Amino acid sequence: MSTSNTEPASSQGASPKPAAVPATAAAPAAAAAKTAAERPYSPGLEGVIAAETAIGFVDGANGRLLYRGYPIGQLVEKGTYGQVCELLWTGEWRKSARLVPAEIPEPVICALRELPDHTHPMDALRTAVSVWGAWRRPHWPPTVDQARELVAFAPSALAAFHRLRQGLEPVKPNHKLSLAGGFLQQLTGEDPDPAAARALDAYFIVGAEHGLNASTFTARVIISTRSDLASAVCGAIGCLKGPLHGGAPAEVVSQLHEIGSPERAERWVREAIARGDKIMGFGHRVYRAYDPRAAALRKVAEGMSEMAAWLDTAVKVEDVVLRIFGELKPDRVIKTNVEYYAAAVLQGVGLAPDLFPPTFALARMAGWSAHAIEQASADKLIRPDARYVGPPEMDVPAFRS
Ligand code: ACO
Repeated sequence: MSTSNTEPASSQGASPKPAAVPATAAAPAAAAAKTAAERPYSPGLEGVIAAETAIGFVDGANGRLLYRGYPIGQLVEKGTYGQVCELLWTGEWRKSARLVPAEIPEPVICALRELPDHTHPMDALRTAVSVWGAWRRPHWPPTVDQARELVAFAPSALAAFHRLRQGLEPVKPNHKLSLAGGFLQQLTGEDPDPAAARALDAYFIVGAEHGLNASTFTARVIISTRSDLASAVCGAIGCLKGPLHGGAPAEVVSQLHEIGSPERAERWVREAIARGDKIMGFGHRVYRAYDPRAAALRKVAEGMSEMAAWLDTAVKVEDVVLRIFGELKPDRVIKTNVEYYAAAVLQGVGLAPDLFPPTFALARMAGWSAHAIEQASADKLIRPDARYVGPPEMDVPAFRS
């Protein structure tokens, strides 16, 4: 798979219209004819169908996740992140599909060098994508080539930022490595351990796509205005930065550190729930069954010998947490979510905890860009309504002199 800049800058202003996807939404005009007060309101848009997609199916009731029809567990076992990206973008499952790390454009490196020392890696990644967009000027509608370029350069940029903040120089990408292996090599300057590269590749596959989550919705809203892919991904990174969306794995690490040993888990968990605290790595808005991504990543983590002790504690603590949830919240199914075992894999491959959220963003760029392409083909501005609950119309009071 080529990752080169396939569209010359001179042609980037063109905006060919993509083939339209026929809308099957039921009579939106009829809904609009009612006043906002008459239409239903769903806080957080919970339960609202806001798009049709052929990319991913999140079956919360049955704990299934399919990418273009293929179960996530099988994709992790049989595929690579490069193949999964191609599947998400084009719908084709191709053995030859490959993504390799790409060079960082000079303006991006210059911008990363100028960032203050205290910059959060999510802000650095968002900045890198923004500068890439200014340099590359990807046109609307987004294309698969644009997606390939973005996904191939972003890990190089995040790794470069991590080195620069340590006072080290960025490492040139090795085009013989996979994207995940190349990310590790550019972080450390050393050839990656093949098992670690494979484990991170599996994490990338698991994180690549998850339906109309908040950051993917953000990307689709931005693209629906006929804005460009870089803007959509910048917005999505900003959305993922919020702790309710992308911040849990680092907190799983500190939580297990605080618990210390499985014997202390019972008391720690009961006290935390009694205080109203959330147990990180458990619960989900959509899944009412065991998160299939957690199951896939647990398998990967079990293959990482360096994580054996940590994993032993994690599995025992998980048993305690699930038992206590079953007892204290019998009406709400709360199971382990993806972040619990993501924490094991990301630690096991040697990532610093503050790199967990931007590494999740690297993985999810596949899904964001696939949804951007799909949204552009629907070519419908996303613009919901709000119910006005402010004061009634009144005259502006005159100012006293
Ligand atoms: N720990 C303790 N209680 C929980 C947890 C948890 N992890 N998850 C849900 N609950 C309880 C709530 O306290 C609430 O109980 P109540 O009805 O007695 O007040 C009930 O279950 C419903 O919880 P909500 O937060 O309303 O459910 P929602 O669907 O809005 O939240 C969320 C889902 C945000 C993921 C929540 O489960 C949570 O905060 N989990 C911990 C953080 C986490 O692991 N996030 C990663 C999610 S995966 C991802 O984003 C990629």
